[in-house]
Amino acid sequence: MVGLTHVAFRELIRQFTPPNIKPLLFTEMLSTLRLPSERFDLADELQVSQLDRGRVTPQILGNDEDYIAKSLRKLEIIEPWGVDINMGCPVKKTLRHNWGVRLMGDKDFAGEVVAKVRRHYDGPLSVKLRCGIEVADLDFIKGFTEVLEKNGADWITIHARLKADKHKGLANWGLLRELKQFRKIPLIGNGDLQTADDAYALVKDYGLDGGMFGRAATARPWVLWQLAEKLGMSCERPEAALSDHPPKTPEEEGQYYLIAMETFAGLLDRYFQNEARKMRKFRFLVTTSHKWCVFGNSFYRRCMKIKTWSEMAPMIADYRASLSGFPMRSRISMLH
Ligand SMILES: Cc1cc2nc3c(=O)[nH]c(=O)nc-3n(C[C@H](O)[C@H](O)[C@H](O)COP(=O)(O)O)c2cc1C
Repeated sequence: MVGLTHVAFRELIRQFTPPNIKPLLFTEMLSTLRLPSERFDLADELQVSQLDRGRVTPQILGNDEDYIAKSLRKLEIIEPWGVDINMGCPVKKTLRHNWGVRLMGDKDFAGEVVAKVRRHYDGPLSVKLRCGIEVADLDFIKGFTEVLEKNGADWITIHARLKADKHKGLANWGLLRELKQFRKIPLIGNGDLQTADDAYALVKDYGLDGGMFGRAATARPWVLWQLAEKLGMSCERPEAALSDHPPKTPEEEGQYYLIAMETFAGLLDRYFQNEARKMRKFRFLVTTSHKWCVFGNSFYRRCMKIKTWSEMAPMIADYRASLSGFPMRSRISMLH
């Protein structure tokens, strides 16, 4: 997610995930027009940690084979685990280049884009797309994903909202369940996954091969730990954990939220130098995540009032010390 899934956030997720479990984590979307000439040490979205090496999956935007090939070569520096092609982004800048969800308007061309990437990359290749453009239509998404599969995609992730929905509205998991029976390659569901129970249901009740958390992971970076326990996996204690088991009650989750925000501020210090950028990234994460907290508005306001970055960590520590019982909501409405 642009502005969110940078190196510090990926590290935050790892610090709240049992170290014996290796989550699939993605970069922000990366333009193949820019990648070939970009400097890895200067572009925030290209920063990687030692833990990312061999594990992170860059997500690319593109359709031109030459730029795709050069970008893939350039990305070898970060030792990607896999490569993901974005066919879901609805923002104007992306559409102008005939990337993102625009590719869903022409399935044959979308198939060619997969083939172009495949010719230059033989590792795990996925496509992230939406479940439709204007209307939910099983035949359309069946035909579209068939072309992706035929051209070399190893798995697909579907954001179960239409292009017209952008990031709002109910996710159509039912359509994914219907689609699943027609696909040989794994089908991962995304959209409105907010809790470990949601991800569990996506697999157990909807028959999908997995789930991809989006915005809820910014509020609940320990959600994979909760899911792993629910699945009965053996879980080593995560690095930033306060307890041997993941938070369960709304109050435990609220306490973990503030610890996670303190941890995140420290990780921004570790990976970024520029104060204004650290501030911007922190505020964006709080803007996205605070909605899950009953105390979210007051915490959000405090964060927005802070003027200099050095005041941020002490403010969070004070905030944490000044209150007792900060419940989190299990789910929030994503309708608006
Ligand atoms: C701020 C923001 C940035 C996003 N950037 C990307 C992106 O770069 N690539 C992508 O595939 N999806 C992107 N998305 C979409 C999410 O990956 C996800 O599909 C969407 O938020 C639905 O999942 P959710 O309802 O669980 O959040 C972005 C979403 C948001 C809110």
